[in-house]
This record gives sequence, C-alpha cells and structure tokens, in this order.
Amino acid sequence: MTRCEMSTEKPIRATAAESASTNPIDRVIRYHVQTKHHFNRYARSLGFLDWTTQPDPFRRFEGARLIRLPLLQTDEEPLSPPYDKIYESGSVPSQPVNSRTLSRFFEFALALSAWKKAGDSEWALRTNPSSGNLHPTEGYVILSQLAGLVLNPGLYHYAPKEHGLELRAEFSVDEITRLMALFPPSAILFGLTSVHWREAWKYGERAFRYCNHDAGHAIGAARVAAATLGWNMVLLDGIDQNTVALLLGTDRRNDFVDVEPEHPDCLCVLWPSESARGRWQGANVRDGRIPLFLDPAMVKNLSNAVWHGKANCLSREHGVHWDIIDDTAEASWKVNVEERSERLPLTSPSLQQSEEEDDGVAPAGQIIRQRRSAVAFDGKTSITAATFFRMLQRVVPHAERPLMERPMPWDVWPYDPAIHLLLFVHRVEGLTPGLYFLVRDPKKLVFLQQSMNEELNWVPAPGSPAALPLYWLLEGDARKLAAQVSCHQDIAGDSTFSLGMLAEFDGLLRDRGAWWYPRLFWESGLLGQVLYLEAEAAGVRATGIGCFFDDPVHEIVAVKGLNLQSLYHFTIGGPVDDIRLTTLPAYSHMNKNR
Ligand SMILES: Cc1cc2nc3c(=O)[nH]c(=O)nc-3n(C[C@H](O)[C@H](O)[C@H](O)COP(=O)(O)O)c2cc1C
Repeated sequence: MTRCEMSTEKPIRATAAESASTNPIDRVIRYHVQTKHHFNRYARSLGFLDWTTQPDPFRRFEGARLIRLPLLQTDEEPLSPPYDKIYESGSVPSQPVNSRTLSRFFEFALALSAWKKAGDSEWALRTNPSSGNLHPTEGYVILSQLAGLVLNPGLYHYAPKEHGLELRAEFSVDEITRLMALFPPSAILFGLTSVHWREAWKYGERAFRYCNHDAGHAIGAARVAAATLGWNMVLLDGIDQNTVALLLGTDRRNDFVDVEPEHPDCLCVLWPSESARGRWQGANVRDGRIPLFLDPAMVKNLSNAVWHGKANCLSREHGVHWDIIDDTAEASWKVNVEERSERLPLTSPSLQQSEEEDDGVAPAGQIIRQRRSAVAFDGKTSITAATFFRMLQRVVPHAERPLMERPMPWDVWPYDPAIHLLLFVHRVEGLTPGLYFLVRDPKKLVFLQQSMNEELNWVPAPGSPAALPLYWLLEGDARKLAAQVSCHQDIAGDSTFSLGMLAEFDGLLRDRGAWWYPRLFWESGLLGQVLYLEAEAAGVRATGIGCFFDDPVHEIVAVKGLNLQSLYHFTIGGPVDDIRLTTLPAYSHMNKNR
C-alpha cells in the first residue's frame, strides 16, 4: 500500500466486488463491466474531492541530477514545419538528436503549455491533455552515446515543470551500444509510465481507463512531436512488461518506498528518418527491418547500472485505495514477447518545400502549443463537410499498407485499427444531421454490421471522398441524445459533431489476451490526440470525454453483447472561453535567461 511518511492512518481498501474467475481475460472484462457508468449509478469513486489528499502533478526523483533543456522561443531553431507537412511522408527535413531537438521533442510531447489562474488557484496545462488535468503519465528517455549530444548514456526522467531531464541511471556505453545496435544510428528510446493514484484520487475505479487514455494521448503527442523534427517513431510492443519495468526502473522498490508507484506502460523507439537510409540499411539491419522488441537479457544487464534518486511523495495520505485497479493492472500485464520486425520504407524523402502551398498553414508548433480542451461550445458554429471529411481522413490508418508506410501518426501503432467511430453529426454544412459511422478498417465492415442493429442502413455518406469509409446510418437531431449519453455534458450536443469510439472488444481480448485491454485505450487516446490538433487547425476546438454512460451508448445502435464497447467520446465545436480565467505563459515561473 502506498503511503507517504506523514500519514499515520490506515487507508480504506475498496475491494473488487466479484472475485469469481482468476482468468486474466475474465478479470479485465469484469473490470470493464464494473466500471461502467449507468444512468442511475456511476462507477465507484469517493463521490467528492478530498483536497487534503490531492496528488502533486509533478513527480521528481530526489537526489537525481537535473539537466535543464534549453527553453526555446518559437522563432528559434529548430523551427517547426507547417502543420500539414507533418502528415506528408518525407517532407520534413530530418534533424539530428541534440539537446535543442530533444528540448523541442519534449516541449511538443509533454511540456507545460500555459498556466491558468482563477482567484488564488493556479494550475498548469500541458501539450498533452489529461482526464481531469491530473496527468498520471510520466515520460522517460533512454540515450546512448551520440555525437552532438552532451548528455551521458542513461535513463532520464522528464520533469515538465523544470523542462529538464533527471538522470535516473547511468548505463555502460558498451551495453547501451549493444542494445541499440539493431536500430538506426542516433535512435533513442522513449518510455511512459502511469501513476494510477493521480487519477484514482478523483475518479475511483474508472481511473485505470483514464490513465490508459492519457498514455495513448501521450504516445500521439510524442509521435507528432517527432514528426516536426523529421523523426520516425514506433511502439516497441513486442517486448514484455517486465522488460519495460526493468528499463524504466519502476520495479526498483527502494526508489519508491512509501510513495506512489509507477506502472510501466510502454517503450517506443525514435530515430531521425535520414539516419535509417543509405549505408545503414544494408549494413546493420537484417533486411532493412526494424525490430519491435528488445533483447530481455541485454536489458537485464543494462539495469545493473548506477541508479540515482528516490521518487517524491505525491499525496501525504490516501483516503481510499481501489484494489480493482491493481488487480486489472496485474491481469493485463504483458508477459509474452513477440520477435516482430517491420520493413523500413525504401523510398527516399522528397523534401520538396513549396512556399506557395504552405501559405496560410500555421506552423505545427503553434497548433501544438495552442491545443486546449473546450469547456463549453456556442451551439452555433458549424464546419464545412470538406473540413469534417479531412478530419476523419486523418484518423484512417490505411491498414492495407505495411506499417511504416501508413500515414503519420499511424506508423507508430503496430496493429490494425480496432476502434471505429459512431458519429453524432449536428452542424456540418452539406451533411444531414444524424448518426454516421466511420469504419477505420474496411475489412471489418461486415463484422461491424453484424455486431449492431441489422436494420441500420449503411449508406455511403453523401459527398464523402471515395476512399473514406464513412456511412450514414440514421437521419435526425442527435444533439440531446449525444449530451445525454455523455453524462449530460452539453459540450457533446452544442458541438459541430461528437462521437463515441467503439472498440472491437471481447473477440479481440479473447484472441490476443488480457494485455490487449490497455492498448484499446491507447489507440483511442492516440486517435483523440489527432482530433484535438485537427480541431485547432480548423479554427475550432475539441474536448475528450471520458464520462459517458456506457450501455446507453451501445443501445443507440443495439450493439450485440460485448462485441463492441464504447471506450472514449469526443466532441468538436466553436469554443466559449471562460472569462474568469487568466492565462500565463508556460514557463513564466522560471528565469528564461539561463
Ligand atoms: C481521457 C480524457 C477524458 C476527458 N474527459 C472529459 C470529460 O468527460 N469532460 C470534460 O469536460 N473534459 C474532459 N477531458 C478534458 C480534460 O479535462 C482536459 O484535457 C484537462 O483539463 C487539461 O486541459 P487541456 O486539455 O486544455 O490541456 C478529458 C480529457 C481526457 C484526455
């Protein structure tokens, strides 16, 4: 049980209600069912906010050296490319890995984006969104010895408030070089962990879902950040979770004594696209392929490093501990290793910069920095059908292509899409309001049709591009319905459109294993991240919606059993700002002239 030293009282333990099957798949499904919100009953939580136990959103490792990254102005190198360019393969020049590019990477992935102030309260926002702004996600980077990089080889924890890297472990040059030898030169590893307590403090049992949504958003934010630098990125999901824990140090109990543990989520590899071309392809890599796993034995050797730092205490007391979160984290722990690899694209980047084409397109950095969640919509703003179709095109991964040839950010996600969109269209010029459906993987169409009310008409959406698998299911005013099923939140009805992300559920879980459960949320978060940025680029605003009534959503299209489950909602519209809030610059709390 996690408790920081100040507390003397025993926390209350909320145990899992049912304890029937010990099969991990049954356990994650039980969690999912138990944490549904119903019209007459929300998933279990404290029911009020206990401000005395509010978790610190900033983890630090006391005793670990902090190396500050340069705080770059928007007009300093590396400059970010026009927003549209990051989606065009090979059109962003590849930057070397150095402290400036690492600084931009973290700035766009996980850094502070602003401070908000209301009366005496102040809170930070970040480039990655988070349910309840609680930010359970912690970021790490693993660096080998790289020319142009002053940082020593090792594991670093990203400290967003300081925009710095804390040296957690110093790795032997030989061992890290051996581990990274299978990847393109200059490759680095990026890892994510979650502090479940941060979300559980407010949301109780449903928090495991939100932590994984947030991890998905962070994967998306990092992939986009990498794209602004001309870097590639892919999830190393062939590895088992023990290896992730070993490499990120989350298994080091002595460094987390009496404080909130971190749950190891995932590792990704990033590399400047240029470094994977030419001589390297023939020399180091089997067949020009990139592995999606690490050698567990090598990671074990590496973890015998010199470690630094003890994790700080985030809450002095914990009122209630939600056992079912630990149980689900354990049940979904990935134990299998798949020695998968993916072929790198063989084509050279075109790098054709067309000045005319870029006119009027905001720099990617501007879109990333200005991303915010809307708190209310005006109920009036509309978007054109062309804008709507463009947004949807961005979330189609083109599963028919090899992974590395899928459009950014879907080249990070080494799976076929398992999430499809049930769309509530309210104000899209040229489209009749009603229910629409985006089939993100056309080969799943029949399965989807058979998993819902078979009376539905699957009419190709009028005017939609031929390549966009968008269907019109029902005509009608769905504004009230959308708000009602989204925990009565007006933002779902006052928008231009909102949506529910329907995941292929028990079939895939039974097929793949319980470890697949968090990945469904990662995919939904990644998808949400694209929509957040697309909304900003279109001059409107988005909000992720984690609070919705699960089964009433399913009833709208009569989902059969657990074939499909809605995992996340989203809404996009014309924002109404809260004029009571003041906004301060992201690093206004620091001396910028370092
Ligand atoms: C997984 C997830 C679920 C969310 N659920 C809701 C929600 O139900 N209602 C809402 O108004 N905002 C929701 N939000 C928006 C967050 O409150 C918002 O991201 C957070 O306050 C940080 O603000 P920012 O996105 O402007 O940085 C959600 C965000 C995420 C990532």
